Amino acid sequence: MQELNTIILAAGKGTRMKSDTPKVLHQVCGKPMLQYVLDISKSVGSLKTCVVLGHKCDSVKDFLSKDFLTVEQKKLLGTADAVKCTEKYFKNHKGNVLILCGDTPLLNKSVIKNIVKRHKKREAVCTFLTAVVHNPEGYGRIIRDESGKVVAIREDNDAVGLERDLAEINVGVYCFKAQELFKALKEIKINKKKKEFYLTDIIELFYEKQFKIETIETENPSEGLGINTREGLAEAEAILRRKILKRFMSDGVTIMDPQTVYIDSEVKIGRDTIIKPFTFIEKNVKVGARCSIGPFARLRSGARIEDDVEIGNFTEISRTKIGKRSMMKHFSYLGDADVGSDVNIGAGAITANFDGVEKNLTKISDGAFIGCDSIMIAPVKIGKQAIVGAGSVVSKKKNVPDYSVAVGAPARIISKRKA
Ligand code: UD1
Ligand code: CA
Repeated sequence: MQELNTIILAAGKGTRMKSDTPKVLHQVCGKPMLQYVLDISKSVGSLKTCVVLGHKCDSVKDFLSKDFLTVEQKKLLGTADAVKCTEKYFKNHKGNVLILCGDTPLLNKSVIKNIVKRHKKREAVCTFLTAVVHNPEGYGRIIRDESGKVVAIREDNDAVGLERDLAEINVGVYCFKAQELFKALKEIKINKKKKEFYLTDIIELFYEKQFKIETIETENPSEGLGINTREGLAEAEAILRRKILKRFMSDGVTIMDPQTVYIDSEVKIGRDTIIKPFTFIEKNVKVGARCSIGPFARLRSGARIEDDVEIGNFTEISRTKIGKRSMMKHFSYLGDADVGSDVNIGAGAITANFDGVEKNLTKISDGAFIGCDSIMIAPVKIGKQAIVGAGSVVSKKKNVPDYSVAVGAPARIISKRKA
């Protein structure tokens, strides 16, 4: 078995983002772009993953879990230099190295898996990803000889004449035999125009040595999109959003109007659930089967909606579980709540979960009926099949017992209801 390690290049300044946040931490569909690339590295069975970071990138370091190695590239001397910085980890390693960029969140896992697979099967020294695009501006162009063999990658800055029109470009995903990679890095000369060492110059070196170079062309060039600007970020968001919605629809979720529905990555939705227009579902949300969500609903992180639940218009749910067959049909907010099954949340009912210092829990037990416009001040518990009358304010810790009826502001327990 040839082992595989991954290097993620992320030391670039991201100047064009005009941001105090490092570029790779900007989010696409609720997830930092770097996370997408880290996920890919995991999914291809990478043994170790090393992220190359620039100077003062503590926030990226803090973001990375202990599972990942990091190195600092003190001076931004180009992509070849960035790879060289990882030498101490991988130089003596006999297997392969996958190289990815931290700013390409749309890469498709299966394409990357294919690259690694083909690379191993054909025993290539380098296998890399290309795309044929309408506008090759800014990308490295792939130069091939008459037989179609890759001769070199010509960077945009250096491409002249007919080279400029070449539509096949370098996406920036490579699989290398580790030993040949680190040996050849030493031979790369500085690019005089940009004063940088280009990783892509390695291709010409390999060609001269008659090493085996393989390429795979993406079927979907947008997957190679590298994000450099806020406009690029919005473009990536739109592409990924469409992809997410398509996946849900093909899994049996109805999305009435994909134009107005926003669903982050890391969301699960069960079959036959209907998502109505103007609905936002943020990352880390689970929705069961046969639910109806929206219009104008916002499910925030930590929402767990079980099967057959109805969430209507102007509703917000955050860090809250809602049990089977419960309903919350009109303008309501539930935060930090644990709602049982067969509960009715009346129009305008609200959990006051934040006391200015801490977030507190509200428990609403099975079969409870929460009247319109009521406020539950957390921490508080509403018992099984209890009724909270319309307009009530249930005070902190004044739990409403099972099967009882509470009314008023502050709410008083007035009677037991029939079980
Ligand atoms: C690079 C490729 C180009 C390819 C394009 C795809 C080179 C020389 N060119 O160009 O062929 O078409 O990507 O998007 O590799 N980085 C470092 N340290 C550095 C410089 C860059 O870590 O000193 C990182 C950046 O953070 C980025 C990646 O390497 O994640 C690519 O660098 P970038 O400057 O964006 O290269 P491009 O000009 O886009
Ligand atoms: Ca780039």
